[in-house]
Amino acid sequence: MASEKNRSTEFLTRLESRYDELKWLYCEVYNNDMQSFDALIESIGSFYESRRAGLKKLDRKAEDDPFRNGTNKLVGMMMYVDNFAGNLKNLKGKLDYIKESGVNYLHLMPLLKCPKERSDGGYAVSDFRCVQTELGTMKDLEELSKECHKNGISLCLDFVMNHTSEEHEWAKAARAGDPEAQRRYFFFDDWGIPSEYDKTVPQVFPATAPGNFTYLHDCGKIVMTTFHPYQWDLNYSNSAVFNDMVGNMLYIANMGIDVIRLDAVPYIWKQLGTTCRNLPRVHTLVRMMRLISEIVCPSVLLLGEVVMEPSKVVPYFGTPEKPECHMLYNVTTMATIWHTVATKDVRLLKKQMEQISWLPKNYVFLNYLRCHDDIGWGLDYAYLGNFFMSEVPHKRFLNDYFTGNFDGSKSHGELYNNDERIGDARLCGTTASLCGIEDAINKNDQYQLDISVDCDVLLHAFMFTLSGIPVIYSGDEVAQLNDYSYHDDPDKAADSRYLHRGKFDWDLAAKRNDESSVQGRVYLSLSKLEKIRSDHPVFTAGASFCTLDTWSDNVLGIKREYSDQTLYCYFNFADSYRQFSFGAEISGKDLISGNDISGNSFELKPYGFMWILSE
Ligand code: GLC
Ligand code: GLC
Repeated sequence: MASEKNRSTEFLTRLESRYDELKWLYCEVYNNDMQSFDALIESIGSFYESRRAGLKKLDRKAEDDPFRNGTNKLVGMMMYVDNFAGNLKNLKGKLDYIKESGVNYLHLMPLLKCPKERSDGGYAVSDFRCVQTELGTMKDLEELSKECHKNGISLCLDFVMNHTSEEHEWAKAARAGDPEAQRRYFFFDDWGIPSEYDKTVPQVFPATAPGNFTYLHDCGKIVMTTFHPYQWDLNYSNSAVFNDMVGNMLYIANMGIDVIRLDAVPYIWKQLGTTCRNLPRVHTLVRMMRLISEIVCPSVLLLGEVVMEPSKVVPYFGTPEKPECHMLYNVTTMATIWHTVATKDVRLLKKQMEQISWLPKNYVFLNYLRCHDDIGWGLDYAYLGNFFMSEVPHKRFLNDYFTGNFDGSKSHGELYNNDERIGDARLCGTTASLCGIEDAINKNDQYQLDISVDCDVLLHAFMFTLSGIPVIYSGDEVAQLNDYSYHDDPDKAADSRYLHRGKFDWDLAAKRNDESSVQGRVYLSLSKLEKIRSDHPVFTAGASFCTLDTWSDNVLGIKREYSDQTLYCYFNFADSYRQFSFGAEISGKDLISGNDISGNSFELKPYGFMWILSE
């Protein structure tokens, strides 16, 4: 085994049990380049050595149980540091609010150095080892992580690995003509090969950033840019890229980051003649990263950002013997929830729940209603075909519905990347605005406001019912509305995702304990749900669950079972009263109302729900 010098036994033990597989995979991708492999092992060894004692302690605990106390006790929140607190130092002073909100997993949106104008919300990194000046320093990040750990909060940070900013030092050198640096990207002299790629590679931003390649006028070359023209795709078939990016990942892990979000991971391997998404090599690279993190920093969890159809998502968990990501976004469920809001028909959501119910219990999903990105309509159209719904018109309906252009809809969303050619668009908006709260406030319509608040709470309750880790987008806990100010900012105006990335409104938060305010109603409801969830092990990811027949297309029933607890959950997605059947006689206590329930049918109010525990 390479480079054993002076490494501690702990490192060597972890390395030894993974060495053969790591070497095998590396040699397969990098053509038996043992010199680079030895350099990698040497480098990860030094990251182990420089890891703080406190983090190594966490590592030892996590080796047995990566999710520590059980997933039912975890609640996440995601936020842009500047929007929430201005900078990292101020954020440290605001941990009380985060704790009060029941949050113990905090995802800070990209905060590493990136050009101000061409930043894609922080996803165009120009220096992986430096924090944006306005937000603070690496030292501040490390201090924040220590303070979070003291308070039982885990920190998640993005690792934007598919590309760098055009202002990264590698990109600058490549532009200046350095061939070694050019090999870190995909550089071409003419459009021959790029146009071959374009035959099979779809577009991520067809309207806001069309094309997969960018012509560089100053050096007369063409570079691959899957996302924006200023985000240059890294070439992972170059071992120097892999080694250096692993170093960058471990660097942030050593700052005390507990969860690393692998941004846009399906895109990291490119091959002519394919879609350049989800290629087998991507899985090899992720598996290697998992092995490396298990060797150096086993308490660090990998969260894969795989925004794809279900059959593409699940393979990123790997297999029980050869796991890849610890966690993945439950993206299909998220999109299906919004489909259910628009149609008020739970059949597709029921089908989706059935599909995930058979997955192994150690596959942990990150559940969310919305994030910093758009909502894409990746639904099971084959199944919807049974109800005579087909893809293009159904997407149009959903987009009309959530932009308030459908009769009866109270949603205020905006389209995202409207591709007129294929009649396709995605959607943006905060949870509250999509649920109709904004419309009701504008119109001063009390009845509508009550219904919309109930809808918002119902969706959160449904998210809390799912196995995995629920993550709230900062501001949603106090029903924050859309922020239209981005329309006036030339750097943002073209990107409607800024609609739901507004500054956190502390005046709204000040009303959080006032039960008569919208903010209080949402905030206190979520707090109550979180508390129930954390007090009952039946909500853990280890529980089994299945759907229940309710004899109503508006009411979804889910049963969760764990040790001696059984939980019957019912959600009415209609905006009017609904009678439904329990299917059989059940008795227990509704944890929401506190009432004892027994019988075989029930009626739920508009957007009403229940969690009936029977022990
Ligand atoms: C991820 C991010 C998104 C960004 C893209 C490119 O998908 O979530 O915001 O635009 O990566 O880095
Ligand atoms: C697409 C990509 C996803 C990215 C998003 C950005 O959905 O698949 O990775 O987050 O676009 O809007």
